[in-house]
Amino acid sequence: MHINSTILSGKGILKDLHFLLKDREHVLFITDKNIINLSVTRELIKKVQENTTLVTLVDDIPPEPSHQDVTNLLNKMKVSNADLVIGVGGGSVLDVAKLISVLCVKDSNITLEQLLDGQKPIKRCTSVLIPTTAGTGSEATPNAILAIPEKMTKQGIISPVMLPDYVCLAPELTTSMPKHIAASTGIDALCHLIECFTASISNSVGDNYALIGMEKLFNSLEKSVDDNTDIEAKLNMLWASYCGGAAIAHAGTHLVHAMSYPLGGKYHIPHGVANAILLVPCMEFIRDAVVDKFAQTYDLLPDAVLTLTAEEKSHALVNYFRELVKRLALPSKLQELNISPDHLPYLVDAALDVKRLINNVPKKVTKEDVLSIYKSLF
Ligand SMILES: NC(=O)c1ccc[n+]([C@@H]2O[C@H](COP(=O)([O-])OP(=O)(O)OC[C@H]3O[C@@H](n4cnc5c(N)ncnc54)[C@H](O)[C@@H]3O)[C@@H](O)[C@H]2O)c1
Ligand SMILES: [Zn+2]
Repeated sequence: MHINSTILSGKGILKDLHFLLKDREHVLFITDKNIINLSVTRELIKKVQENTTLVTLVDDIPPEPSHQDVTNLLNKMKVSNADLVIGVGGGSVLDVAKLISVLCVKDSNITLEQLLDGQKPIKRCTSVLIPTTAGTGSEATPNAILAIPEKMTKQGIISPVMLPDYVCLAPELTTSMPKHIAASTGIDALCHLIECFTASISNSVGDNYALIGMEKLFNSLEKSVDDNTDIEAKLNMLWASYCGGAAIAHAGTHLVHAMSYPLGGKYHIPHGVANAILLVPCMEFIRDAVVDKFAQTYDLLPDAVLTLTAEEKSHALVNYFRELVKRLALPSKLQELNISPDHLPYLVDAALDVKRLINNVPKKVTKEDVLSIYKSLF
């Protein structure tokens, strides 16, 4: 897949976005109720309002948005001719901004229902995605994920047309993340990187993004969680997250994400938290199929013992993940999230139904395998 977004990155970069606003008639600024209150966001909105004719501000995108949330938003906005969409937020906001960019463009060929049915958009307005978590990497993927509560899962709407014209990696926007959100969204980025690196359809381009991203993440995730003023670690995490998104565009995630979809779609567990719970058991499950790739990943750890055998390194990597999730104080059991074992049959069927991701697992996965991974979380 060809990603041709222009990337602007570094502290202070938001002050240089004037050129994007030139000759714009109708700008849609999409964000959420937390991000709107940040002084950096307020300054940006002020600049957009001063430099364009009409700005529609949407500041109430909910976390883990559903298809109904987007339908309600479209009905409320009634915009059909935007020429610039700016999304500032975590994956929830960026995914909605991506959908809006193809739904609210002049002469759009498509509706939300048609997108959900698998039809493809052919055009979008100019778009700028500015992540505030690190993260989903949504700014680099062709995906927009919506919860479908009545089917108790999530659905990915996928089209390269939704990839943005501009991505802005501004570390000062991620310094306000509460610790637990920096931790869980950082683990989401790790899941993207390691799943894409080990996917059954992994390839050299995706692998390169995954390796670059994991090296940055192993050196910066804990620093960025522990110290919100560490701008270098924050920027490294934004790049790690971007690389995770780019790896998704080339290879795709698999078991962790397939099994986390029902946890998010039905129980509204934040995406990164669901992935953090699933990371270790899923990595234990695939380890024997990807020993060499796990060994290569282990070598990127800051304190790797390079003399270990590949088999030993693959076990050591899983242990590193286990300790990392603990050190980040993320939940590791489903009881902690009030999910009871009675829900197991439903969870198993829903996970196996995410065929796009299940087919990407690097070894055969059966109903019993999925059941035993979920069971290990009680
Ligand atoms: N498009 C993709 O490729 C892709 C990949 C993975 C996940 N997703 C989707 O992304 C969504 C999750 O996104 P997310 O994990 O980034 O979380 P999010 O966007 O849902 O944000 C989580 C919470 O953190 C707050 N927040 C975000 N940034 C903040 C900041 N800088 N300061 C203070 N608060 C902040 C938000 O207001 C929200 O309350 C899910 O819907 C998931 O399915 C999409
Ligand atoms: Zn994810």
